[in-house]
Amino acid sequence: MTTLLYGRPPAVFDPPGDAVQTSPLIPDSTPLESVAEESVDAVMVYAPPGVLERRYTLALALRALKPGGRLDAMAPKDKGGSRLKKELAAFEVEVGESAKAHHRRCVVIRPKSVTGLDEVIAVGAQQIVPGLEAWSQPGVFAWDRLDAGTLLLARTLPPMKGAGIDLGCGYGALATVVLRSPGVTALRLVDLDRRAVEAARKNVTDPRASFEWADARTLEDGGELNFVVSNPPFHDGGAEDKRLGQAFIRKAAGLLKKGGVLWLVANRHLPYEAELNDAFKRVTMVADAGGYKVFEAVK
Ligand SMILES: C[S@@+](CC[C@H](N)C(=O)[O-])C[C@H]1O[C@@H](n2cnc3c(N)ncnc32)[C@H](O)[C@@H]1O
Repeated sequence: MTTLLYGRPPAVFDPPGDAVQTSPLIPDSTPLESVAEESVDAVMVYAPPGVLERRYTLALALRALKPGGRLDAMAPKDKGGSRLKKELAAFEVEVGESAKAHHRRCVVIRPKSVTGLDEVIAVGAQQIVPGLEAWSQPGVFAWDRLDAGTLLLARTLPPMKGAGIDLGCGYGALATVVLRSPGVTALRLVDLDRRAVEAARKNVTDPRASFEWADARTLEDGGELNFVVSNPPFHDGGAEDKRLGQAFIRKAAGLLKKGGVLWLVANRHLPYEAELNDAFKRVTMVADAGGYKVFEAVK
């Protein structure tokens, strides 16, 4: 029996322990896109909050199921849960719905034929975004636009030199700007989201770039880089979490050599100063505009 799991449902939903993990946010998991059609017996999806991303994931899960296989999908009521039933019913399948622990849970036994999967999968797939002229995908951070914080950092950055890393690279917007500096010898692009890394690979074709699908917090503290650039994440599972950015700051210090520099952009209200002053020798706020601040921190 083959069972797939997407994400990390709360324990009350009794997620299968022996399932194959398919979330793009869990490094080394199996892409749901790569699972053969009608090949698995059961799928449990902890449905993501974005509408396009969620419908895409549900469609991929239904595509992967054998006829007669069971889809179990749940989401917090206020983060897409209340729309799950309607979204699943749009595939012309019968949906059972229940409520538990502030979630909605839907169960579908996959019929022989399911309507509209290809169309929904096409809308949620990796694509070139008109206007952005870059590869991206629903679910990736600021997937169809240039984030205002990234833009401020890109405009503030002086030419970088030597070897560096972009922590939380997204689809590669900031990295593209960094690589305009001829003094850059190498740039590692790291992100927790496989979709972001896959898009960045297509957007950043410079041979000095390398790509890692990884949790930045688990990178080895090499102490050898000349620079770090980062627009760090400040949400974990939908809730604001300043600890993520603080962990990125500590990791940046661990990756840099003495005299190396971190360029960081953050929402104005996020308290990163203490962490920066703790881990770095000299910290300067270089820009403060449009609700964001940019720091230069020298180790
Ligand atoms: C604020 S976004 C910035 C993205 C990109 N630099 C841009 O400007 O478009 C933060 C990025 O960090 C990634 N991220 C979140 N947690 C992470 C982690 N633990 N390790 C690595 N990347 C992470 C997110 O997927 C997201 O792409």
